[in-house]
Amino acid sequence: MANKTTIEDVELHLAHPDSINMKWIGNDQMREQLVAAWTVISDEDIALNPRLIGKPGVGKTTLAYAVARQMGRVVYIMQCTMDTRPEDLLVTPVVAGEGKLAYHASPLVTAMVTGGACILDEGNRMSEKSWASLAPLLDQRRYAESIIAGIKIHAHPNFRVCVTMNDDASTYELPEYIQSRLQPQIEVAFPSRDEEISILSFNVPFAEEDIVAYVADFLQKAHQVNLPFTSRDGVNILRFAKKLGELRDADAKGFLSESIEAVLGKDGAEFLDTGVPGDRMRGAMREVIDDLDEDDYEDLFGDDEVEDDMPEGDKE
Ligand SMILES: Nc1ncnc2c1ncn2[C@@H]1O[C@H](COP(=O)(O)OP(=O)(O)O)[C@@H](O)[C@H]1O
Ligand SMILES: [Mg+2]
Repeated sequence: MANKTTIEDVELHLAHPDSINMKWIGNDQMREQLVAAWTVISDEDIALNPRLIGKPGVGKTTLAYAVARQMGRVVYIMQCTMDTRPEDLLVTPVVAGEGKLAYHASPLVTAMVTGGACILDEGNRMSEKSWASLAPLLDQRRYAESIIAGIKIHAHPNFRVCVTMNDDASTYELPEYIQSRLQPQIEVAFPSRDEEISILSFNVPFAEEDIVAYVADFLQKAHQVNLPFTSRDGVNILRFAKKLGELRDADAKGFLSESIEAVLGKDGAEFLDTGVPGDRMRGAMREVIDDLDEDDYEDLFGDDEVEDDMPEGDKE
């Protein structure tokens, strides 16, 4: 692909696409909603700009990436922060020697001109000023104006964009006129136990089945009491336990609680000690790991065990 393009006589250097070995495992409804939002069904129709919302690490970026690839797009991930300025989102001038300036297109603008997909990752962190520069792009006008390069950039018909947002407190409240341009809202929820096991084994294929199942159960139990431990944490717990095992030349199983404490900190340690309120395993999470053995394991974590252990009041 050409790495330069010219708009209104201004030469733009294009950004590089992201290519990652990512597979989305989980609920088909979320995937379908994203596909539907991005599908254009007639000449009068335009693509929607969905917002994927969920806890950090539940798989929002993974879902957006997987769907964009599935729909045949080259993907550009743009990491948004509090410091992202309008020019970072669009075009940045770079000194190119001899007093000359070169213009660099952002991942977003590169996706716009080449017909790719852009993921505005963690967009909730970005200031209103930066969002305001995207308002015309996010409605039927589908263009953005770069003040710095003095050009109006029209989006290719194949261009698609979505925004991921963490639903934590560390975020700016987006103004209404921006929120209304970022619809539909797709809630990315925690995976089921089976999905969790698939996610963990896909990401850490060298971890044994029993520790994968243990970590999946640990996460499921944490979800029941609204602790925000996610698949990303699970992947890190498994990876770290395996590394400790490798280094100490012993079974990774023996290092799961150490790994959980190191990855999740105080909250993780506390949860290991107390378990789920009303749970017959209360206080036993740590012991379970310490002498995890396959037969005992079956007894402790039957398939329907998670449901059975729900405190009465929490049942639907
Ligand atoms: N549903 C899922 N399918 C596949 N991998 C997942 C899933 N959820 C989380 N992961 C894994 O967990 C990690 C974090 O996922 P990510 O998409 O970055 O989360 P988020 O964007 O919500 O913070 C990635 O390494 C990813 O491989
Ligand atoms: Mg993300």
